[in-house]
Amino acid sequence: MRIDGDRLLADLRELAGFGRCGTGVHRPFLSQPDREARDWLVRKMCDAGLDARIDGIGNVFGQSRGVARALLIGSHTDTVPRGGWLDGALGVIYGLEIARARCESGEAGPLGVDVISFADEESAYLAMAGSRAFCGCLSDAEIEAARHEGSRSLREALVEAGYAGRPLVRLAPDRHVAYLEAHIEQGPRLEAEGRRVGVVTGIVGIRRIRVTFSGRADHAGTTPMHLRRDAGGALVEFCHELRPRLEETRSPEGVWNLGQVAFDPGVGNVVPGSAEVLIEYRDQSVERLDRMEAEIQAAVAAADGRGGIKAEATQPLGLTPTTLDRNLAGLIAAAARGRGEEPLLMPSGAGHDAMVLSSRLPAAMLFVPSIGGRSHDVAEDSAEVDIVLGAQVMADAVRVFLDGKLRGKPGGGEFCVPVAESPADS
Ligand code: GLV
Ligand code: MN
Ligand code: MN
Repeated sequence: MRIDGDRLLADLRELAGFGRCGTGVHRPFLSQPDREARDWLVRKMCDAGLDARIDGIGNVFGQSRGVARALLIGSHTDTVPRGGWLDGALGVIYGLEIARARCESGEAGPLGVDVISFADEESAYLAMAGSRAFCGCLSDAEIEAARHEGSRSLREALVEAGYAGRPLVRLAPDRHVAYLEAHIEQGPRLEAEGRRVGVVTGIVGIRRIRVTFSGRADHAGTTPMHLRRDAGGALVEFCHELRPRLEETRSPEGVWNLGQVAFDPGVGNVVPGSAEVLIEYRDQSVERLDRMEAEIQAAVAAADGRGGIKAEATQPLGLTPTTLDRNLAGLIAAAARGRGEEPLLMPSGAGHDAMVLSSRLPAAMLFVPSIGGRSHDVAEDSAEVDIVLGAQVMADAVRVFLDGKLRGKPGGGEFCVPVAESPADS
């Protein structure tokens, strides 16, 4: 099973053409370029020898023929607004190249390689909608409520894309034996430590709290200052007070972000009648997340009623910290060493579909260095030699897995790769 580095890079470059935005890509989920990229991926998967389709939530799934069980490899092809060309795309194209190389090798073992590009990892409508639907942990109510920037509904957009009503592709416990996801690191550690491969040990928990301030819209020129119930002013005061609270509470690795603020009606000559801010915070520890949440709730309670303005909090996202499979991680680490690279074992501060999949399957992740640690921006990039090396390491790990030569049982419990039949374990 031989990886073709040039072909892999050519596919990544071609995919980056959908929604190109300077040196990066603007391809939010269900935008025109995102839908075109999904159609392109279906064609690529079919050419690679997979049976491919787009399902009812927008997942692109390529299934290996002639096998009852398969290793699942994937990530996502949607991007944040004005994002980079590799975030998500890398892991999907690794899966495509590895499945293609397996088909070309003509080797027919009991395990195949299925490839998936999950819908809306970047939460244009609903965070990780695709992987959550795939794992059966997304409710109809969540789908019904999901909107892009508070207006266009996910349902409408799925109808317009022609995906609504199609059957969902579901994780099949009797087929899918494990999940592998490659990704760019999106941070500076690999580069700083001079490593070319990262093996992910766990993924941070991610929570979001939306705080809404309800005041009263008034004429911004004629309403005396002391008579205003300015929701925008209340929001600014709240954010100012929140900063020291969260800075004192977070762990050294913990992070928080005020990434979205909206004033309504959001024009210069109207006192904002309502305003909202989306607070996101991340940590590896549930206890720390709970403490940060308590601080935010205390700040909301302090703001509520001040100046006649109501402050209310809702929690639109709560993803628990995840530990990835140690044996699969060990497999990737051994493959890296086989290529002469000592991998860095590291947690991920970014969220990934693997955190959803890991609740159902043994899951592991490989990281490729990001130049300057940049990501979620058009500046995001990785060296081509590192991109190709990462694919070779992943392919080597997959080869060992498909041959049933994995030492130790991924996930333990009911996991049933044919390790017992493997010469390496006998
Ligand atoms: C995914 O990009 C995330 O970490 O939010
Ligand atoms: Mn991302
Ligand atoms: Mn990503």
